[in-house]
Amino acid sequence: MKKKVLLVGGGGREHALAWKLAQSPLLEKLYIAPGNVGMKNLGELVPIKANDIKGLLVFALEKKIDLTFVGPDEPLALGIVDEFQKAGLRIFGPSRAAAEIEASKAFSKELMAKYNIPTAQFKVFTELEPAKAYVREMGAPIVVKASGLALGKGVFVCNTTNEAEAALEEMFVNKIFGAAGTEVVIEEFLDGPEISIHVLSDGISHYLLPIAQDHKTVFEGGKGPNTGGMGTIAPVQWVTKEQLTDIEERIVKPTLAALKKEGREFCGLLFPGIMMTAKGPKVLEFNARFGDPETESYMRLLKTDLVEIAEACIDKRLGSLNIEWESGAACCIILASAGYPSAFNKGKEITGIENAEKIPGVVVFQAGTEMKDGKLVTNGGRVLAVTAHEGSLELARLTAYQAVDKINFLGKTFRTDIGKGSLKLVS
Ligand SMILES: Nc1ncnc2c1ncn2[C@@H]1O[C@H](COP(=O)(O)OP(=O)(O)OP(=O)(O)O)[C@@H](O)[C@H]1O
Ligand SMILES: [Mg+2]
Repeated sequence: MKKKVLLVGGGGREHALAWKLAQSPLLEKLYIAPGNVGMKNLGELVPIKANDIKGLLVFALEKKIDLTFVGPDEPLALGIVDEFQKAGLRIFGPSRAAAEIEASKAFSKELMAKYNIPTAQFKVFTELEPAKAYVREMGAPIVVKASGLALGKGVFVCNTTNEAEAALEEMFVNKIFGAAGTEVVIEEFLDGPEISIHVLSDGISHYLLPIAQDHKTVFEGGKGPNTGGMGTIAPVQWVTKEQLTDIEERIVKPTLAALKKEGREFCGLLFPGIMMTAKGPKVLEFNARFGDPETESYMRLLKTDLVEIAEACIDKRLGSLNIEWESGAACCIILASAGYPSAFNKGKEITGIENAEKIPGVVVFQAGTEMKDGKLVTNGGRVLAVTAHEGSLELARLTAYQAVDKINFLGKTFRTDIGKGSLKLVS
């Protein structure tokens, strides 16, 4: 039977998911809430916000939606999965209790400590002065993190104790992250290349996607403040089989087992960010959904129907599903507005997407865009995700950057070194 599918979210990740879902032979109709203008030919855009759980539920019941796919973290943290399931609806994603592994860094660090899962040493604080004292005791470099959800901007990697104390004041006194920053994790600085692990779980079996790599800082070479992510590649080829086994045995399996033991069985997609340190892989954080912009690279490589994958997770038959991938590699370059992740201007006209997509292997996903007076204009920090799929990482990078050249808007900002580090580590 063909299915009516509702996709929740409206960024670059959701454009990539919509692009893939729209290709499903099982699809009767795709609704996207709220989506963005880039997705308008892939499904029907529904003007309900991703955090309006009640509104989404009423819509899903009214339209008799067969499957809901949740993109962003916020609806998961608000319990969209619990609410939909209570109403008898089928939905892909973790329950609110399981999603807490992302929504509360304090919870996730304490879970890792309890179950011996390798991560940076840490302490949790709810008051300024003891937090400052701990920073002075530990010295720099040191990392200060808002415990709650902060759009990928809640982490300060500090080179001096002064910087760390200033970050603490921003969170506790100036409350720049609101409630998300009333609890703060201070942790040991970890050194090494960073990778993104994505794991599908149905509560019984799990499946590891190819490894991806994001580039978190706004400037080349790991410089500048953290962003939601400036570009990704997949697969990452320099991780050895032994290292991957280590990640699966010491991180993935124990985390899924720990959540189950705590009565928070994880169904959906678990995404640990991992630092490959000299002392082995260590968890930087957990996310409870697909990465953005990892998904923009993944969807270019995924062969298997995404509707089928979501259905298999919901029905707890992931173990018998054969998931297939294209050969070669994908690369995604984020085009951001000048000033991001701080203040930036909106409303700048975007040109050249069509020309970019004429290059074989290129697909441009939209994140922060809108139509104004008949023109496509910028409407966010991360504006576009320019992706290429090619036979090798080297070619995928080259093609993606050729496509980037074709696109223009005032203030267009991007990193020129996406995938460069991984290329060096392989050759
Ligand atoms: N202990 C650490 N040592 C060194 N760098 C770190 C550490 N923790 C975090 N980072 C850096 O900061 C980035 C963001 O940290 P983290 O992933 O915890 O935050 P987040 O805001 O939840 O990010 P995301 O948007 O990916 O969910 C990491 O990708 C990493 O580059
Ligand atoms: Mg996170």
